[in-house]
Amino acid sequence: MNLYKYVSDEINKKLGLVAKLETPKNREFGDFSTNAAMVGAKAAGKNPRELANEFLPKLQELDFVENVSVAGPGFINIKIRDDFIFQNATTPKPIKNENPLVIDMDYGAYNVAKSLHIGHLRTSIVGDTLNRIFRFMGHKPLSWNHIGDWGKPMGLVIAWIEKLHPELPYFQPDFDPSKPVDYEISAEELNKYYPAASAFAKENADFQAHAQEIKAKFQDGHPGYFALYEKFLPVSLKMMNDTVQRLNILPFDYDLGERNAAQYVGDVEKILNDKHMIYESDGALVINVRREDDNAPIPPYMWRDSRGADTYDATDLAAVYCRKKTDNPDIIIYFTDLRQSLHFEQLFRTADISGIYPYDKFEHIGYGTINGKDGKPFKTRDGNAAGLDDILDMANTAVRERVAESGKKLDDETITSIALAAVKFNDLVHDVKSDYIFDPTSVTSFEGKTGPYILYTAVRLNSVLKRADNNITKPDHFDLSPEERNLLIEIMDFDRTVLTACDNRAPDMIANYAYDLCQMANTFYHNCPILRDDIDEKTRAGRIYIAKLAFDTLSTAIDLMGLTIPKEM
Ligand code: ARG
Repeated sequence: MNLYKYVSDEINKKLGLVAKLETPKNREFGDFSTNAAMVGAKAAGKNPRELANEFLPKLQELDFVENVSVAGPGFINIKIRDDFIFQNATTPKPIKNENPLVIDMDYGAYNVAKSLHIGHLRTSIVGDTLNRIFRFMGHKPLSWNHIGDWGKPMGLVIAWIEKLHPELPYFQPDFDPSKPVDYEISAEELNKYYPAASAFAKENADFQAHAQEIKAKFQDGHPGYFALYEKFLPVSLKMMNDTVQRLNILPFDYDLGERNAAQYVGDVEKILNDKHMIYESDGALVINVRREDDNAPIPPYMWRDSRGADTYDATDLAAVYCRKKTDNPDIIIYFTDLRQSLHFEQLFRTADISGIYPYDKFEHIGYGTINGKDGKPFKTRDGNAAGLDDILDMANTAVRERVAESGKKLDDETITSIALAAVKFNDLVHDVKSDYIFDPTSVTSFEGKTGPYILYTAVRLNSVLKRADNNITKPDHFDLSPEERNLLIEIMDFDRTVLTACDNRAPDMIANYAYDLCQMANTFYHNCPILRDDIDEKTRAGRIYIAKLAFDTLSTAIDLMGLTIPKEM
């Protein structure tokens, strides 16, 4: 049961108004407090305190009310009856939504021929958790891994391979695509090529220009370049796939990116031309997206670069067109680094003006940067920008060290799932927009607001249930201790938390909820012995029942965060 919603609805019904229910941090005076008297005072021509006192006997009639009292200028505190709590606390169930929304989610969006960087961690983790939240809420999210498989990096990598191996048939004018080429490329090599090529291009204008030309020719179907692309594409796709598995995120509904979108660029260009939206500027084709009320100048959207190649901007608009045709989504949400905000603002405006997709149905969730302890973007020990694998490896090592120090023996699978929980939880617990510090030592601690602490609590609850042989019977009546009461009220707050996290696109609410629930579950565990010999049967049954509700609720939260509970810890 969603206790908050139930209490709020019942109060409003009883008093015939729409009041706001608050949940005070300190429950000394009540579990909830309502501003009903403030809301009704004016119409009733009374002062709020007076009206509050009149409301008390009515509220006292409600089935969940233990007692009510007036506080301050006219707030009403409400204490919930213990047996109401015990009888109505339930484990969370996915919502059956009468009006599900089709939600296209664009996250992950890894790049071909570029190794996954630290920024891809956040898009993957936050995108995946929101996907799971939307599903839980009964919506229909569809995830698009908008792979960067068409743009600038292709030109650079092909140019670099040409520089290293100019003799390869791909680069000869008489290249014959039907003849197999004896050339293989490893993931390690491929990972090095893009950074090398891009650094070289910065120093060398000719190379830069050549790479751009290659990109344009490649997009036009140059047989040699395309055959070479098809050599390294699978190597890249395999790396992406490994990452998806390593991160334990849901498989994407579509692994279709820029190259897929490029097929629609022609159709979209026709729409734009019909509306006379495209004009020439410095040899490029651009679109004006300025508005009268802009405070700062917004640069034009880049439709085609001066070499005639498809741009990131063009394929992104074409992707919207494609998604509209494929899914007809109610909302389209993008998850990228905050630094791409301008790009998305331009995209949303262009889509809106062209009539392809309305501005107010788009959302961009821009996330902050992962920093090191020095507050600068996280680097590895050798001073390089950290990749996604570096982060996971570091967390793994830190967990391994901790476990070794404690003398515990845990298998590799368990260590990996603890390390992943450490990284993911630390990401989720921070507000999406904010930067945060990644410190492998502190995020892997088994105490405090960390992933391992969350998993540890779940393992502990689970082991109590196992020791009780999962023998769960709900007593008809049970006297609640304060710890049991607090824990049950928290459990009854789960549904509201997911709903708010969903509406606010705030996965940090789930992470923080999981932490609060763990705190209460551990206090319960310490103060309310379950299996000790001196505990009578009825008390034991009630506590096992509560432990089971707590475990199921925590498991659901853990699942929404895409973590897995190890067998032991
Ligand atoms: N591939 C891009 C990157 O790694 C992100 C793409 C985000 N999605 C999009 N539709 N533009 O930065």
